Amino acid sequence: MILPHSSSTPIAQQAMTQFANERFLTDSLTGLSQTPKRLPCKYFYDQRGSQLFDQICETDEYYLTRTETAIMQRYAGEMGECLGEGVMLIEFGSGSSIKTRYLLDHLIKPVAYVPVDISREHLHESADQISGDYPDIEVLPVCADFTKPFPLPNPKQRPSHDAVYFPGSTIGNFRPNQAKQLLASIAHMCGQKGGLLIGVDLRKDKAILERAYNDNQGVTAEFNLNLLHRLQKELGATIDVDAFEHHAFYNAELGRIEIYLRSRVDQTILLDGQTVQVEADELIHTEYSHKYTIDGFAEMAREVGWTLRRWWTDENQYFAVLHLVVL
Ligand code: AVI
Repeated sequence: MILPHSSSTPIAQQAMTQFANERFLTDSLTGLSQTPKRLPCKYFYDQRGSQLFDQICETDEYYLTRTETAIMQRYAGEMGECLGEGVMLIEFGSGSSIKTRYLLDHLIKPVAYVPVDISREHLHESADQISGDYPDIEVLPVCADFTKPFPLPNPKQRPSHDAVYFPGSTIGNFRPNQAKQLLASIAHMCGQKGGLLIGVDLRKDKAILERAYNDNQGVTAEFNLNLLHRLQKELGATIDVDAFEHHAFYNAELGRIEIYLRSRVDQTILLDGQTVQVEADELIHTEYSHKYTIDGFAEMAREVGWTLRRWWTDENQYFAVLHLVVL
């Protein structure tokens, strides 16, 4: 069963868009005034950016999505058992909940499914679909930014425990201290007996990693450059986007892919009456994608209250899904 949701009025929508634009502008101006310059990766995902991300997931080079999906497909039965009977499953960044279906097929008497996503329309659309396909599970969508505290809904039946499902290796896009904070807040939210099932991209050969973020068709480059197109379109920035190029490499020492936009020429960005000087070859940082070892991740999670129970991986050990619990 799904609860009815109210769609917001055009005026409320306008106010939300204006608020979002102001946030985007402030974050961009702040980031561009830092050394090195940066633009936050959360702004990758407008409609075009989300489409491009879906296309990245289809490229031959980007192994992450297909590898994680195969792990879910193969081991969802074991994962369902590990998560235990009577769980309320909360999914962070649920999107279209594709991988979740494998899990929902194998949960034991789940009490509720709570998809959490910032994109309201997408959230309700896919919640409606899940609700239609799983009529015995109460679906309680929550439109929220999961990096900030939000109240959990009350299901009709009392769950024996809560568990968070956080797929996609999105945790890798947080710096380790932020990732740790997020893991701590998930532990706090789930409380005693709480569980976490999380997708993590593993450390591997530099060439494989660099290929995944520099696909031949240039989709990742387009995805990265879309940030600048957004600055132009939504904030009226004057910027020579064609003079920028995508730059991504693996920093083995820090275990992360680093993504930048590099200007080929000296140029002046004009944004909201302010000028930002960019020199030829200067880099604007847009994203980190951290890669972990199982032990490294378990240790980080242990420091904030989680114990690693089990994990599943693919035959190449490219990606892993970890089950952690609060004892
Ligand atoms: C969403 N996130 C896990 C992707 C990643 O691999 O870090 C984002 C991405 N950036 C470039 N390609 C994919």
